[in-house]
Amino acid sequence: MFLGYYVINRNKSEAIRMKYSKYSTIIIGSGIAGLYAALKIEQQANLPDGILLITKSKLGESNSRYAQGGMVGVLKENKKDSVSSHVSDTIKAGAGLSEFNTVKFISEHSDRVIKDLLNFGVEFDRDENGNLTFTLEAAHSVNRVLHSGGDATGKMIEQSLCHTILNNHNIDIYEQTVAVDLLVNSKNECKGVLIFNDVTKEYETIYSPVVILATGGIGQLYKYTTNPIGATGDGLALAYNAGAVLQDMEFVQFHPTALAIDGDENRFLISEAVRGEGAKLVDADGTEFMHKYDDRLELAPRDIVTRANYNEMREHHSDCVYLNATCINTDKLKERFPNISKKCMENGIDMSHDFIPVAPAAHYFMGGVKTNIEGETSVKGLFAIGEVSSTGLHGGNRLASNSLLECVVCAYEVADFLKDEELHAPKQIDAEIKATIDKYSEEIESDEIDVKDLKKELQEIMWKYTGILRDEKSLMTGLEKLNDLQEKFPRKYCCLNREEYEFRNMLIVAKLITTCALQRKESRGAHYRTDYLQTNEESVHSCISGKEGELCFVK
Ligand code: FAD
Ligand code: SIN
Repeated sequence: MFLGYYVINRNKSEAIRMKYSKYSTIIIGSGIAGLYAALKIEQQANLPDGILLITKSKLGESNSRYAQGGMVGVLKENKKDSVSSHVSDTIKAGAGLSEFNTVKFISEHSDRVIKDLLNFGVEFDRDENGNLTFTLEAAHSVNRVLHSGGDATGKMIEQSLCHTILNNHNIDIYEQTVAVDLLVNSKNECKGVLIFNDVTKEYETIYSPVVILATGGIGQLYKYTTNPIGATGDGLALAYNAGAVLQDMEFVQFHPTALAIDGDENRFLISEAVRGEGAKLVDADGTEFMHKYDDRLELAPRDIVTRANYNEMREHHSDCVYLNATCINTDKLKERFPNISKKCMENGIDMSHDFIPVAPAAHYFMGGVKTNIEGETSVKGLFAIGEVSSTGLHGGNRLASNSLLECVVCAYEVADFLKDEELHAPKQIDAEIKATIDKYSEEIESDEIDVKDLKKELQEIMWKYTGILRDEKSLMTGLEKLNDLQEKFPRKYCCLNREEYEFRNMLIVAKLITTCALQRKESRGAHYRTDYLQTNEESVHSCISGKEGELCFVK
């Protein structure tokens, strides 16, 4: 709800106007977590000032849109499955860092949330009798992954949620709008957000008692990634600057099988579900190798398969290994994996006859803003859900298809938490918030910076020094290089466009990941230190916040 304009004096001769508005709830991000939270909050909460959904690109453009394999559903009708089995698989993959109560809660509530999604018009694939079909993915002991459109699960869910949102007139939407700072007062309460419209280049201050970060992951910090260009870790940088506690920032998941086509750095994913249906990893001669690494072969946890592929590539001085899906029935390949088959065909690869060149790529971030199951962070009024959060579900290594489940269960819970709250926008702001707003009205000295090359440099540094294998020397070098890179980017707060803001955030997050990786002197899950191969007996979370500055480890 629009309220008015601030007039800010830049200097004696110039004054600028900044719009300000209020809402009962602001959601930043239009992936599955943000979209579903908006719908659930609208359905349940008392919203005198309405809901605002902000997204930095077009509605629905997100990591969620590209999800392939599916969403875990521990459903009552799947007689082979049980909460205890899903909990046990998740905890095993999590390498000692998953929180039992969180895992159990999310697993137990999957049935309720999936039934609710069906009511919102989301479709999952069914067999000829109309029953939901479940597939298998790595490290799951039974078939429990629901999918949609074959291998287009994310897109199908995202499209139906977007459709419902666009028909809901109580949710305002700002597209191409970047959240650039959180408004936190001296009592550690978040009272709103400062946003930047990348089209008009105008700022706006939005006040709200509830700000929900649903800003997704960090894949774009790495040279090779399955993530689309928006995955630049913005929410993590915002939360860190606001003094919120971030957890387990060293845990980056690399997917073992991204399509490795020369020169293509944003890589198309070849879903784990293809291995779930029987595909094998082979070297250039067609020899299978997973038996050398794990008894579970191709369906070992993701970190193990990734390191196996990486190791084979290094031993053979090759840019890829291969996925042999020729053992899967041709009709089944087309029906289960229509998009993967199409993408391969566009690149001259017929999955039913040819090996698919694959290599690891940054895929998912297990670290994040530390939250409880309702999304509450250490800053009052600031919530985080989906990939930007760290609830304790995934631990050191996420089990396939648990992410979409976490997005929807936590979105549901945040809405439930807010349903009895008084959601009135704050009436007053204090000096701390005013100081934050003022930082964005300062004059910017240089012209627009072309961050393309700087971004490439950062991605190379992270891939090379804070990548799949790390050690003290590589991490120290990485940190030094990131500090050098910072020197080339003279912006701390105010930037001139979306790309500059993203790069500002990427630098902050890259340094946090590298710093935390340096401090964790053990190998656990996806964090693999070649100089500390052991896994310590005691599993502890790493925690860091912009307020305390120091990294600490807690049980
Ligand atoms: P996202 O879907 O990433 O959405 C983030 C949103 O925030 C975007 O709309 C973005 O524009 C917006 N945003 C970010 N920063 C700002 C800002 N500063 N201002 C305004 N807006 C901002 N998981 C599974 O469980 N199953 C799968 O099968 C699966 N397959 C995957 C396949 C691929 C190729 C990828 C990349 C991921 C896959 N994952 C899968 C992971 C899963 O898709 C993501 O973890 C999940 O979708 C994250 O959802 P989210 O809503 O938290 O964030
Ligand atoms: C995949 O389909 O392999 C990705 C699944 C996931 O990341 O959960």
